[in-house]
Amino acid sequence: MRILAIESSCDETAAAVIENGRNIISSVVATQVEEHKLYGGVVPEIASRRHCESINGVVKEALLQADMTLSDVDALAVTYAPGLIGALLVGVNFAKGLSLSSGLPLIPVHHLRGHIASNYLEHKELEPPFLCLVVSGGHSHIVEVRDYTEMRVLGKTRDDAAGEAFDKAARTMGMPYPGGIHLDKAAQNGSPDAFRLPVPKVSGNPYDYSFSGLKTAVINLIHNASQKGETVPVADLSAAFRKTVVDSLLANFIKAAQDTGYKKLVLAGGVSANSLLRQRTQEECGRHGWECFYPPLSLCGDNAAMIGAQAYYEYLSGNTANMKLNAAATMDIAAPSY
Ligand code: KG4
Ligand code: ZN
Repeated sequence: MRILAIESSCDETAAAVIENGRNIISSVVATQVEEHKLYGGVVPEIASRRHCESINGVVKEALLQADMTLSDVDALAVTYAPGLIGALLVGVNFAKGLSLSSGLPLIPVHHLRGHIASNYLEHKELEPPFLCLVVSGGHSHIVEVRDYTEMRVLGKTRDDAAGEAFDKAARTMGMPYPGGIHLDKAAQNGSPDAFRLPVPKVSGNPYDYSFSGLKTAVINLIHNASQKGETVPVADLSAAFRKTVVDSLLANFIKAAQDTGYKKLVLAGGVSANSLLRQRTQEECGRHGWECFYPPLSLCGDNAAMIGAQAYYEYLSGNTANMKLNAAATMDIAAPSY
């Protein structure tokens, strides 16, 4: 089954043709990052406008690269939640129009389920059940993936997402948006023990996260130094920050695996590109004798290939939409409504 998938939830307009949820026939991503960089973060109104301008060309290009026309695909898929509402609406309305004119079925896909599915494109042997740490710019979830479309959230962030904390700390250190990748690179040359940062803690659910205190501590540290005319050693602070975030992410993830008995651990989302997170997860899994999976760097960030992968399994579960499909800024990954 071939699915033409569309993604427009944030600042990437993307389209892809995916076969049977596992093979990428084509994948096109048009990023707006250079424009948002000017403002230090995504400007929602600009994102919507650029999606409108790009979507037609991006979808055409995905079909062209697949050497196909619409009559060669069996279904359409689109990210409908969660994300920036104005950005999502561009993809959803485009996909609805295409479905109406072609008669092809329309499959709505939850963005975070798509991130999880990016792993299916790389690891052909990976099948649920497994435990997944989904870490992106907007979310930090520990998800029990019981089946392709059956999930349960064990823990999530109470405030900032890990990616958001990376980006804000990086911005305060003078790095361009999105700062996560720059902070990761700067950290390679730093000593994580040069700074003692507060270790994030929450009471109640042992699998929940909190990153706003840590983020604020770093921002205050930089502002205090600049008021005194001192310069902060960016590599050391980056290394200390990265280590604290990764330690926190992994502590709950490992505890959740031990408590639930999962022996297959999977990373997903933009922050799964973090080199220390990948390395440490691999080491922890090795130590416990667990299997470890993460997406290739090319599929960590937003793309439509992952949406096409998840769409295949949503379709098999009967999750298709009609012309009443709407976009939603927030949506539970475990109980999405269409
Ligand atoms: O999944 P994603 O592309 O978009 C959302 O759905 O939010 O995630 C983007 C996030 C950004 O916060 C970005 O800084 C972060 O992923 N990110 C990283 C790295 N590469 C991307 N964070 C830490 N280390 C990285 N290497
Ligand atoms: Zn994403």
